[in-house]
Amino acid sequence: MSDRDAGGRGDATGEEAGEPAADNPPVRRVSDWDAERLRGLAGEHETPLYVQDLDRVRENCERLLAAFPDADVRYAVKAHTGRAVLEAVRDAGLDAECASAGEVDRALAAGFDGSRLHYTAVNPPARDLDYVAGVAEAEPELTVTVGAVDALDRLAERGYDGRVCVRVNPGVGAGHHKKVTTGGAAKFGIPYDRAAEATRDAAGRFDVVGLHAHAGSGIDPDQLDSHRELVARMGELARDLSEPSDRDGDDPRDADPIDLEYVDVGGGFGVPYEEDAPALDLPAVAEATREAVAPLPAGVDLAIEPGRYVVADAGVLLTRVNTVKPTPDETVVGVDAGMTDLLRPAMYDAYHPIRNLGGASGEPPVAEREATPVTVAGPICETGDTLGRNRALADPSRGDLLAVGVAGAYGYEMASQYNSRPRPAEVALDDGRAAVTRRRETLGDLTTVEREADRDRTDRPEGDR
Ligand code: LLP
Repeated sequence: MSDRDAGGRGDATGEEAGEPAADNPPVRRVSDWDAERLRGLAGEHETPLYVQDLDRVRENCERLLAAFPDADVRYAVKAHTGRAVLEAVRDAGLDAECASAGEVDRALAAGFDGSRLHYTAVNPPARDLDYVAGVAEAEPELTVTVGAVDALDRLAERGYDGRVCVRVNPGVGAGHHKKVTTGGAAKFGIPYDRAAEATRDAAGRFDVVGLHAHAGSGIDPDQLDSHRELVARMGELARDLSEPSDRDGDDPRDADPIDLEYVDVGGGFGVPYEEDAPALDLPAVAEATREAVAPLPAGVDLAIEPGRYVVADAGVLLTRVNTVKPTPDETVVGVDAGMTDLLRPAMYDAYHPIRNLGGASGEPPVAEREATPVTVAGPICETGDTLGRNRALADPSRGDLLAVGVAGAYGYEMASQYNSRPRPAEVALDDGRAAVTRRRETLGDLTTVEREADRDRTDRPEGDR
């Protein structure tokens, strides 16, 4: 449960339900960032560099809480797990939805107590279940969301009999790409038509407190019908489970109603990546959600778990132009960030806005340069390693700084060391002040685990190696 009642959320917005503060716009565009500030940060911390603005994270939390005043709002930690972000979200009053033992560990370290932790076990590795069952002994208010009967058995084997939420496959999905459309995928959740029975079975072994479904990630305004459909199905299931049922088929009804606390309809709230795409009308989505789910049985709350919406437009990736190569087909602008820093374009053909912030020595200010169509390419030996194609940028020169916008969600989180590239640094802005929250990795960091393994191997007697 969120700690709204415990005062963590307070009335942070000071606004009426559904009305975000006037100085809290629905989206921050890459053009809204202060170019001089970003140039200063890149000069000081070098590139590639993620910049994450905690003030914007707080604004996003506030808009969510204002639009969904009666719901439990949980942050899907996987979008950005940085400690400073988690602390900002915790202070704003959101709970944490975690996808792995590692995320639970991070959320605990950031000060979320068990009552604000929701672990969503997707094909959970034994190590993760062991870890979470251990945490639950100290934090019995933690909730485990389970999407397979088999996983319930595996929890029970570990002596877990605590709070469980049943993840349902609602049979309807949505999302910005087929790789992140979850709702109908067999991997996720117990099929809708078996969910009621599985939930009643689970109630015999666990404290069943919730139902859960997630349509997918990056739901556009034109996919709201799928969202509504999912929500309506979940509302129906909750009503069904809140009634006594006839389990052996010979009426009278012989199974108790399930005492649910919430129906979690997942995350997926989209953000506009294209500079001219409209922002999601969050109050309208909230209204449609309430309408579709209603009326929930007495005492059952609505819950949502947005990730992207909380952090996406709070982050930019800064990268420096290394090379400008005119070719007969296109001009390729080579930069020092690539798919290892921001995987989304290579993985999902995702669009991220790119802005030239200038700074190349001897070149005119960007405002005086002509817009030129270019491909922005990274330093990785893969054709897919481009951050954008056919982008009209103020004619880039070697030494210019580019800002890749809306990079705060699934940016650093999906970074890798492929091509033996150290991961970038990150600074967080907090009330205007900048602090390094993730230092830049070094070449030495790339081989740490190998060197440790080597050391262990050579420490062992020869026969054991
Ligand atoms: N809840 C569950 C159970 C999820 O699996 C996810 C995301 C969320 C909530 C949050 O969804 P959001 O509000 O962030 O859309 N790497 C991909 C996104 C993968 C999302 C996976 N699950 C991307 O960069 O687009």
